[in-house]
Amino acid sequence: MTRQTHIEKLSVDALTEVEAAAELARLAALIAQANQDYHGNDAPQLSDADYDALKRRNQEIEARFPDLKLDNSPSDQIGATPSDGFGKIQHAVRMLSLGNAFIDEDVQDFDDRVRKYLGIKDADPLIYTAEPKIDGLSLSLRYENGRLIQAATRGDGAVGENVTANARTISTIPQKIAGAPAVLEVRGEVYMSSDDFAALNARQADIGGKTFANPRNAAAGSLRQLDPEITKQRPLMFFAYAWGELSAPLADTQFGAIRALQHFGFQTNSLTKKCASTEEMIAHYQSIEAKRADLGYDIDGVVYKVDDLDLQKRLGFRSTTPRWAIAHKFPAELAWTKLTDIEIQVGRTGALSPVARLQPVTVGGVVVSNATLHNEDYIAGRGGDGADIREGRDVRIGDWVQIYRAGDVIPKIKDVDLSRRDKDAQPFVFPNICPECGSAAIREDGDAVRRCTGGLICPAQAVERLKHFVSRTAFDIDGLGAKQVEQFYMDGWVQTPADIFTLQQRYGQGLQQLKNREGWGAKSAQKLFEAIEDKRSIPLRKLLFGLGIRHVGDTNAGLIANHYGSWDVLETALATAEIGQGPVWDDLLSVDGVGAVMATSLIATFQNPSERASIDKLVEQLNVQDAIVAAALDSPVAGKTVVFTGTLEKMSRAEAKARAESLGAKVSGSVSAKTDILIAGPGAGSKATKAESLGILTIDEDGWLAMIDGL
Ligand code: IVH
Repeated sequence: MTRQTHIEKLSVDALTEVEAAAELARLAALIAQANQDYHGNDAPQLSDADYDALKRRNQEIEARFPDLKLDNSPSDQIGATPSDGFGKIQHAVRMLSLGNAFIDEDVQDFDDRVRKYLGIKDADPLIYTAEPKIDGLSLSLRYENGRLIQAATRGDGAVGENVTANARTISTIPQKIAGAPAVLEVRGEVYMSSDDFAALNARQADIGGKTFANPRNAAAGSLRQLDPEITKQRPLMFFAYAWGELSAPLADTQFGAIRALQHFGFQTNSLTKKCASTEEMIAHYQSIEAKRADLGYDIDGVVYKVDDLDLQKRLGFRSTTPRWAIAHKFPAELAWTKLTDIEIQVGRTGALSPVARLQPVTVGGVVVSNATLHNEDYIAGRGGDGADIREGRDVRIGDWVQIYRAGDVIPKIKDVDLSRRDKDAQPFVFPNICPECGSAAIREDGDAVRRCTGGLICPAQAVERLKHFVSRTAFDIDGLGAKQVEQFYMDGWVQTPADIFTLQQRYGQGLQQLKNREGWGAKSAQKLFEAIEDKRSIPLRKLLFGLGIRHVGDTNAGLIANHYGSWDVLETALATAEIGQGPVWDDLLSVDGVGAVMATSLIATFQNPSERASIDKLVEQLNVQDAIVAAALDSPVAGKTVVFTGTLEKMSRAEAKARAESLGAKVSGSVSAKTDILIAGPGAGSKATKAESLGILTIDEDGWLAMIDGL
């Protein structure tokens, strides 16, 4: 199997930049098609778990390569654009989706994130609600002065379909309500019970009509009928669990608001419970899971929500999901198969990544033949923190392993069947030399990953670096993609990035040679040389990112480029910096997003003789453009560099930072001449003194809140 064909099965950690870009495009197309099948045609072709897996993989790749995120990324989209058959309704408040938790640890992480954001200590109480996640389709009902005036599907979250006439036929949706706020949007799930679904399908089969794959499709197909008379004959139900626009609050808590909706006549879920800890949440999840088969309607997990509505407001939203809620999904499918081999792949930064080759097996409707093994500890049965995983059972070639796919296309190994282990099976010995170049592969203290020390002499690293160098976010040379650099590398024409810029000089006359190659004609060769010429002049940010320095992504490359402004300044700084101390180090760390790890990696690269030689050779060929700092947004703090110090009493650091950044400010960790505003809470120390000596505007938390009031 070529690397290209199994990209989709590779661990996100093993993807190169170029592969990641291709994979994001592939996932976007698959997710768009799945959305259309599900929301547009009510005929999904993928299981829920598979759909979640695609979305999750997309998010994981975006998290690792934030700069490859597409403008119309599936992560920022919900559902599908409304179908043409219905009128459109703009939602007064967007209808959002939920983030997912798959294992108990994810629930703990959710609680940790919420507490950290709000600044609530572990020991302090924090109440959540836990309720079933209904597997139907969401609907928003708008009541004005107690009358149902509009019903809309979620659509793409911003604009839904007008299904008012159809919603009026659902008996559990009240047409009139007494005592409600003048404007009340009730949100919830339309669903069909298991019995009604079976009866409907039997009836449909009798009359030779369309049958449905599951109750959710039946509910969606029934609600989205252009003729409401058909909807009326379908036994649809509605559970209320949320709200949109309100002219007056329903209650102070989620639990209270749901009770208010119940009093207005809505069906709410009786399994909704208040929980005072993650243990209680998980216990409730387990008890709901145990009842799942007998509920009489389909659910696919449990939703946890922060109970206090003021806290929900403070937590707010990410692009498409609230910070205050999460869906804890029921587990994905499992399968046993034989592990036939363990292969080691070498990435751009020299990381040795083990991949399990499996006897093909179907898991959740997909044939799986590879699984990620992460690193040598994982194979040996140890987790990142050194604690046992799989109760310490290691993984050996020839073992029978249990595969699971939970929210990720890349399957993982959950367990090993020791009773089926061959008595001669030996523990896997992780190589300490690079399988590609024979250099020592070293594991540094605190690093879970073993890395090849061959640098550019390692063909795997050199090729991966070249691929990164020509990738879309870096030099993006037309006609010179991953395939071509690999070919040029094999031919010995291009070993390092600098060689790309001397290609014409070296092979110009030998254009003949190039044009005789498979896939190249005189025209395409000429075009390639022109495209290379075009990129001789390159923005500083793209050069820095293109160098492929460990830990330096595109966003950071941009911030570093803006900070130093020109190649000469940047290069001088990094060449003279001392790791861990001195003014140049401090200055580097003052760049937003640059921590000690990234700073060390930058300095080590610039001070490593062979890396330096390769960088110098490249820069000689280039005209590096200075960074131009982006124009400020329209807010009083846009473009300003702000520093928070001391204790913040009204919000956590994370919340303060998120707010400031959303208003276009840059938040820095240290005070320098570039700081515009210092926000100093009680206990502010040296930063306040320094700000004073530099004449920097210093305000307290209330002053800051007044400055950004209402924004
Ligand atoms: S709360 C701001 N609660 O799951 C988010 N959603 O995967 C409000 N869903 O779009 C949603 N049961 O269609 C919530 N008890 C429940 C739910 C629930 C099902 C659906 C809903 C949502 C989707 C997210």
